Amino acid sequence: MQEHRFHPWIRTLRALALVGAVGLLAACVGPTQWGHGNQSTIQPATDSTRVVQSIYALVTWIDVGIFVVVFGLLAYAVFRYRVRPGQSQQLPKQVHGNALMELTWTIVPAIILIFIAVPTWSGIFRAARPPAEGAFAVEAIGHQWWWEFKYPDQGVVTANEMVIPVGKPVVVKTHSIDVIHSFWVPKLSGKIDSLPGKINTLWFTPEEPGMYYGQCAEFCGTSHANMRFRVRVVSPEEFETWVAGLKQPPKPSSDDAKAGEQLFVSKTCMACHTISGVPVALGILGPNLTNLPARTTLAAGVLENTPENLVRWLQHTQAVKPAAKMGTPGPDGAYEPVFAGARLSDDEARQLAAYLLSAPGAAAAGTAGQMAAMSSSAAAPAPAAGGKTAEQLFQEKGCIACHLIPGIPAAVGKIGPSLEGLMSRPTIAAGKLKTTPENLHKWIKNPRAIKGDTLMAPLPMTDEELDTIVSYLVKLK
Ligand code: CUA
Repeated sequence: MQEHRFHPWIRTLRALALVGAVGLLAACVGPTQWGHGNQSTIQPATDSTRVVQSIYALVTWIDVGIFVVVFGLLAYAVFRYRVRPGQSQQLPKQVHGNALMELTWTIVPAIILIFIAVPTWSGIFRAARPPAEGAFAVEAIGHQWWWEFKYPDQGVVTANEMVIPVGKPVVVKTHSIDVIHSFWVPKLSGKIDSLPGKINTLWFTPEEPGMYYGQCAEFCGTSHANMRFRVRVVSPEEFETWVAGLKQPPKPSSDDAKAGEQLFVSKTCMACHTISGVPVALGILGPNLTNLPARTTLAAGVLENTPENLVRWLQHTQAVKPAAKMGTPGPDGAYEPVFAGARLSDDEARQLAAYLLSAPGAAAAGTAGQMAAMSSSAAAPAPAAGGKTAEQLFQEKGCIACHLIPGIPAAVGKIGPSLEGLMSRPTIAAGKLKTTPENLHKWIKNPRAIKGDTLMAPLPMTDEELDTIVSYLVKLK
């Protein structure tokens, strides 16, 4: 009689539970919502993520069991012992100090925790010990707001798209140039912080060729959400081809691309960007641009890599990625679209994009000399050789992209130190050298010989050009 009254209830509950479970399952395996499952942690694609997933699944199933038992007993008690009409409202007899029950609810959870702890510990120890033999090393360096990938064994550098061969353990060593970032490719590995001044390591073995999606996972400033990256897992042969492409400069074939090659120097791009095989392009502030056509995205995963998007990025950098360092904060705090000295007309942006997206090819003999000559003749029509003013040189050599230089209207760069009142400071190069004209000469000639990790690029200059620049700088108030 009593039972008949709650049977329909239980049927309703059962139906609801079934609908809920099916919905949950569909949400978990359904590929369409939430980014096509590209960053799903429950679809492991490496040995390392499979270990994590197996522990996660174990904990989840144990939790489901506990949930069913606890809520089953609770539901049973609620229905079975509810107050019925006409029953006394007095509390039933209370139980205190039942040794059997207390032992049970201590020992059973302890056993469950041991079942969780053992695989968890073994997973932690496994993650902490990268394979000593045959592993492949990549350095992942966080910058506001892009990723640099260095391959010490191959001697190549790239940005925002890490390419690795399938089937080989990869050891990722990560740190940061500025603030704390976090390296995370959910399908390939766990998450690890990229810290300034400390190297953190994680490792995994990619098993399937394909594209894997990563994201900086630590809030790192205005464009944190725009600090994406990709990992492309390829066959060993494809990997070799890719490495070879990173050792050659773009080979401009069209007239646009050839004009773009000159703009790369005259618009001071080379002060911040490196391109392998281009002697003047040694900047390390921005991403290495060697073999740009091999990448699928621009601006750290924000835009698909197409000529139209590259033009948009070059002209409207700040609209694509707010506060990107390719631009300068103006007096009102709002960013300029790009550097004041590097603003591009529509034609120029198209030409520069054509150059950067040229397929790599062997540099012609004597290119080094040509490029160096170009860097001292590209901007303004030069007067007789050697007769340049300091103002011209600051523009042509790219100094204006990074420094505020009093008396040079275009020099409003804020990446390097302001050069206002330079001689009134006791030292230069952040304390490495006393401020003397000779040391200034030495520093500008080869900053990396004095301070290995400096972001200032060695810009090709003759001694005569250096003298002109130094004599301007020592007079600065
Ligand atoms: Cu880098 Cu968030």
